[in-house]
Amino acid sequence: MQFRSDAYIDGQWRQGASRFKVYNPANQEVIAEVPDLGAAEAEQAVAAAHAAFPAWAAKTAKERAQVLRAWYELMMGDIDRLARLICMEGGKPLAEARGEAAYGAAFAEWFAEEAKRAYGRVIPTTTATRRYVTIKQPVGVCAAITPWNFPMAMITRKAAPALAAGCTIVLKPPHQTPLTALALAELGEKAGLPRGAFNVVTTEHASAVGKVLCESPLVRKFSFTGSTAVGKKLGAMCVGSTVKKVSLELGGNAPLLVFADADLDVAVKGAIASKFRNAGQTCVCANRILVEDAVYDAFAKKFADAVAKLKVGAGDQDGVEIGPLIDDKAIDKVSSMVAEALADGATAVTGGKKHGAGAQFYTPTVLTGVTRQMRVNREEIFGPVAPLIRFKDEDEAVAIANDTPFGLAGYFFTKDVNRAWRVAERLEYGMVSINEGVYSNEVIPFGGWKESGLGREGGVEGLEEYLETKFVNFGGFA
Ligand code: SIN
Repeated sequence: MQFRSDAYIDGQWRQGASRFKVYNPANQEVIAEVPDLGAAEAEQAVAAAHAAFPAWAAKTAKERAQVLRAWYELMMGDIDRLARLICMEGGKPLAEARGEAAYGAAFAEWFAEEAKRAYGRVIPTTTATRRYVTIKQPVGVCAAITPWNFPMAMITRKAAPALAAGCTIVLKPPHQTPLTALALAELGEKAGLPRGAFNVVTTEHASAVGKVLCESPLVRKFSFTGSTAVGKKLGAMCVGSTVKKVSLELGGNAPLLVFADADLDVAVKGAIASKFRNAGQTCVCANRILVEDAVYDAFAKKFADAVAKLKVGAGDQDGVEIGPLIDDKAIDKVSSMVAEALADGATAVTGGKKHGAGAQFYTPTVLTGVTRQMRVNREEIFGPVAPLIRFKDEDEAVAIANDTPFGLAGYFFTKDVNRAWRVAERLEYGMVSINEGVYSNEVIPFGGWKESGLGREGGVEGLEEYLETKFVNFGGFA
């Protein structure tokens, strides 16, 4: 398979003085070596984006939409290669990687359309001699730092609205998965993105490059997807240095509630879809599964039986549903969280150990007898481990679900329509899904409450994040 492995700055493929290795998490083999760039190259990328901004912003929305539409078509035309890249560097099973490629491409399609709808307003006047309007303008040069768990979709979810709005962008992809980002640059170039509009700075020196992106006075908007701890630091740098606009999509601790009146087969299917997506490595994966007393044992059995059947292996093997974790740190973290829960009295009804498929594979696990104090309930696991916690009634379920500083995604299963409305309103989460475990797509506003982030990505809201509102007063006329 052919792919680009040089960085992309100002429309040029750049080799850099040194390079770092990209590994396949399924077997730890080296796939490629890419440029290990630093602060100087990040400054150059920002300067290129700054130079490209006036001409790109001056294009009509329709002209920008045509380029974005072409980018979308090229991604869809290259979906097999993109899926293979995502699988190879990120570990995601091929069918899921293909799903991500289509999901990622859809942001370019959606924001090509939304570009044309950056409407201002006419505000009814308060004085006969004045007229008030607002207009929307691109915020300027944008910078983005994206995560490895969605090597493609988290890039297009930021870059497509930025470009649609008339902004230019500098991207720092994760060091684990830079190749998909470079493939997007290659397709963007073919689609007609002008030089400097979309720049990819590959690096293993995240903090040096991140500092430039957060503090450069030329960058007016910063968007980050990753952990809450890192997001807080980057957000503080952006605001403390140059008061940039900031979007943060941070960690979660998603509860999934199964009420006694739920269809248990639907709940099992939804819980598996949510918990085991990308081997549990998404910010919206159900982190803890809360089950009403009356159905706890029945649900635990059905769920564990289904989980035990999940096929684990390298993502490019037929029928694999659970791939490797991203690196050895991830395996160590999951192993230690499970070991702690078991030591504190939980039971692994299935799994509970590493998997024989390779060094970075963990067996899909269901833990019963989990309590609220355990780390698996309080912290994001980011692995294929499902802790089951009991609750006695709706009030207790909602209290446990909301007892966290995070507020990204929440799920619940019920057949009672009154409860559906009530609990949807009571959960303190940016996204709530009823009777379904996966819902992500380009038309919804994706984002969290509390320490899960700031701003929304996708949907109508996603374009707003890259626009400034300007109020204009037409005054003094008769
Ligand atoms: C994430 O894990 O950050 C994104 C998940 C999604 O887009 O569904």
